[in-house]
Amino acid sequence: MGGLVLVTGGAGFIGSHLIPKILAAGMRVRVLDSLSSQVHGAIPKDLQWLEQEGVEFIRGDVVLREDWMRAVEGVDAIVHLAAETGTGQSMYEVARYNEVNSQATALMFDVLGKVESKTVNRVLLSSSRSVYGEGAYVCPSCNGARMYPGSRSAEVLGREQWEPTCPQCSGTLQVVSTHETDGVSPASIYAATKYAQEDLVRIGCESMGLGYVIYRLQNVYGERQSLNNPYTGILSIFSTKIRRNGELPLFEDGEESRDFVHVDDVADALLQGLLVPTAPNTIINVGSGVATSVKEVASELSRAFGSEPKLVVTGQFRVGDIRHNYADISRLKNLLNVEPKVTLAAGLKRFAHWVEEQPVPEDRLEQANNELRARNLMN
Ligand SMILES: NC(=O)c1ccc[n+]([C@@H]2O[C@H](COP(=O)([O-])OP(=O)(O)OC[C@H]3O[C@@H](n4cnc5c(N)ncnc54)[C@H](O)[C@@H]3O)[C@@H](O)[C@H]2O)c1
Repeated sequence: MGGLVLVTGGAGFIGSHLIPKILAAGMRVRVLDSLSSQVHGAIPKDLQWLEQEGVEFIRGDVVLREDWMRAVEGVDAIVHLAAETGTGQSMYEVARYNEVNSQATALMFDVLGKVESKTVNRVLLSSSRSVYGEGAYVCPSCNGARMYPGSRSAEVLGREQWEPTCPQCSGTLQVVSTHETDGVSPASIYAATKYAQEDLVRIGCESMGLGYVIYRLQNVYGERQSLNNPYTGILSIFSTKIRRNGELPLFEDGEESRDFVHVDDVADALLQGLLVPTAPNTIINVGSGVATSVKEVASELSRAFGSEPKLVVTGQFRVGDIRHNYADISRLKNLLNVEPKVTLAAGLKRFAHWVEEQPVPEDRLEQANNELRARNLMN
């Protein structure tokens, strides 16, 4: 299989795993990436892999029309990964998140509509499970009906009432895996911009006759995830604490859960979206399909570093955080024939091994938390 694939944000974490797979499948790659200093540090490093045969690198910005014009020339498919990714930060850098995530996606379609050579036939988008807000639940007191509780208010969280309650009877809910057809309720500006991207890709592709896949990624972790960005990546943040011999602060009561999926499995899912002969033209969850509490993942990560877990339940909370969400991955299996392979224990060992080869980063968590507190977004 030949062809040229544009990967926006390709110098980032997920791109760095996807690109070698695209090359190995016989396609060429063009990367459009601004090398954002929040992700790559002031002086980007460890990007030699981008210089390999088959990769063309354009340092450019997805918010600029001329950069898109250069980037899409002669391209067969686009994997649109470039984005601002900090959920908490998005709540006060609202215009920036809207511009880089939503507006830049609109610009992509504007440019695709205007370029003379219409070579692009497929678009893949990395959206996020954050568009769901809280995951799906069932209420045993309401005959097991599926429920989508709204986001928890600062007042409710302040009472340490962590678990969402049934919107109909206020009873106790049971979390279940979230399906692509479940309700959507973005609870942060980041999530709102990812949802806007989804609509733009669906409507833009349908109107232009392009195939598409919209991936709702759960919590992706693994080698090469940014260790500099204090606004995102719980496992990066914990890994820095472990290496500095510090305690791991668990928000709420530590029982909140996420679906941690190794980046290698995510890259397989994205690659398959390029390879399947007919694009599914739909939304596909990408996760491990397993819920893991933050307490469990913090302990397992500590063990992967060979340390005894030092956990502190802080009772702190951030407005806009969800309590639970894990993916129903039947579409991933049925439509893309991808089955996640990396277990959490094995993935965390791989991650820890890589982290140990990196310089110990500055611990900037408190700085990021203070930015939220100054805006009443954290207690
Ligand atoms: N990592 C996760 O857990 C996760 C979960 C859900 C969704 N996603 C989505 O996956 C995508 C990739 O995430 P990642 O984890 O690889 O992030 P990352 O921050 O490692 O990579 C993003 C890349 O985009 C580049 N970039 C940022 N702004 C840009 C701009 N204006 N113009 C051009 N390039 C720009 C950055 O320099 C970086 O190289 C994002 O769209 C993100 O929303 C990630």
